[in-house]
Amino acid sequence: MWGGRFSAKPDSIMTSINASINVDKRLAEEDVAGSIAHAKMLCEQGIINEVDCDDIVEGLDKIINEIRHDKFHFSVELEDIHMNIEARLKKLIGGAAGRLHTARSRNDQVATDFRLWVKASCTARLDQIETLMKALLSQAETHVDWVMPGFTHLQTAQPVTVGHHLMAYVEMFSRDFSRFADAIHRMDECPLGAAALAGTGFNIDREMTAEALGFDHPMANSLDAVSARDYAIESLSSIAICAQHLSRLAEELVIWSSSPFSFVRMSDAWSTGSSIMPQKRNPDAAELVRAKTGRANGSLIAMLTLMKGLPLAYSKDMQDDKQITFEAFDSLDLSLQAMTGMIETMTFNKENLAKAASGGFSTATDLADWLVRDLNIPFREAHHITGASVKAAEEKGVQLWDLSLEELQAIEPRITNDVFDILSVDASVASRQSYGGTAPVRVREQIASWKERLL
Ligand code: ARG
Repeated sequence: MWGGRFSAKPDSIMTSINASINVDKRLAEEDVAGSIAHAKMLCEQGIINEVDCDDIVEGLDKIINEIRHDKFHFSVELEDIHMNIEARLKKLIGGAAGRLHTARSRNDQVATDFRLWVKASCTARLDQIETLMKALLSQAETHVDWVMPGFTHLQTAQPVTVGHHLMAYVEMFSRDFSRFADAIHRMDECPLGAAALAGTGFNIDREMTAEALGFDHPMANSLDAVSARDYAIESLSSIAICAQHLSRLAEELVIWSSSPFSFVRMSDAWSTGSSIMPQKRNPDAAELVRAKTGRANGSLIAMLTLMKGLPLAYSKDMQDDKQITFEAFDSLDLSLQAMTGMIETMTFNKENLAKAASGGFSTATDLADWLVRDLNIPFREAHHITGASVKAAEEKGVQLWDLSLEELQAIEPRITNDVFDILSVDASVASRQSYGGTAPVRVREQIASWKERLL
């Protein structure tokens, strides 16, 4: 491509380090779409003639079909996807192929291809996040009033409902959804026509190519257009945050499905066995979703580091952006699908959940609150009385509600029989009716509002 200036061939290691074709061949669809839009615009503007334009478009159509059907030979010597396609075009249509690169550089070409790819991939992840939210929503609805322990420090804290717990993730994933949606909105501008860095002297129509490629508008500054990769960074940060939510949920599935907990059973389709211990059902998919968070974080840091300190405009460093980004999108793709499959097919164990919900004196706060509300005892004092009651129950090896009125009155004489109405797990859960609280009446509202938005 630049033979005019050079007399010797590149070193073979130079060829290897310089080539990106094995990675950026994934941009073939975007590259051909960008080239067709560019060729048609050049023709419309009278920069190339119609015969050449038709030949170019026809040739590019043929090339993308070859690529789709695995009939295209990718060559490392031709460095990247752009030059592989252009070289093939030259073979197919001859001289006119050389006119395609008028008023264009690989710098705006790759910026356009990559932006198109990232935008489409963000859109695909949006759909997957929504599917996962629907799976969570459906399980939440089925188990809206099933009780389970709520934890802090992974110590039993207060009872909650399974529906409430699952809806917490719907909220988290909805924010991931909006992060991707925001990123898409911000990246929705077209770099094509920025040429190498300074724009071009040809009378091009950047509105036309932007529109043809589905962008909202052309980018306003040609230096920025070829240099910007913040859209990739923003996507990677959305990926890292989403992966982090997935990882917390995955961790819960690992804990919940472990035999001492046995809150849930992962379906056969999403479990693996052990080659030595026949009884095992391992939550491998959940563990791998948890593991992939590390890569997502790594990709974000890699990309931030890659771009840090690069002077304007293009530097070859930026060629390495693709592998990092592709990998992160791919692993989020798998993770979202795996998590959706696990959530859809897992079954909850009502009995174990209820038993655990009533363990660990989970309604102690309800007792303290009752002392405050019904007996007008200051909370700090109520806390102390409740602590003594828990201690008494623990020493006796019983639950709070198994203590007799006399035993409770020995701790605080003002306690009445009414206290037994509020000590049960169901009463505790039903009482937490503050906005966003765990009471089934509130959780049903949360579910209804999400159903309206999602279904
Ligand atoms: N393969 C290159 C990349 O992905 C294309 C741009 C090359 N531009 C250049 N000035 N060498 O970044």
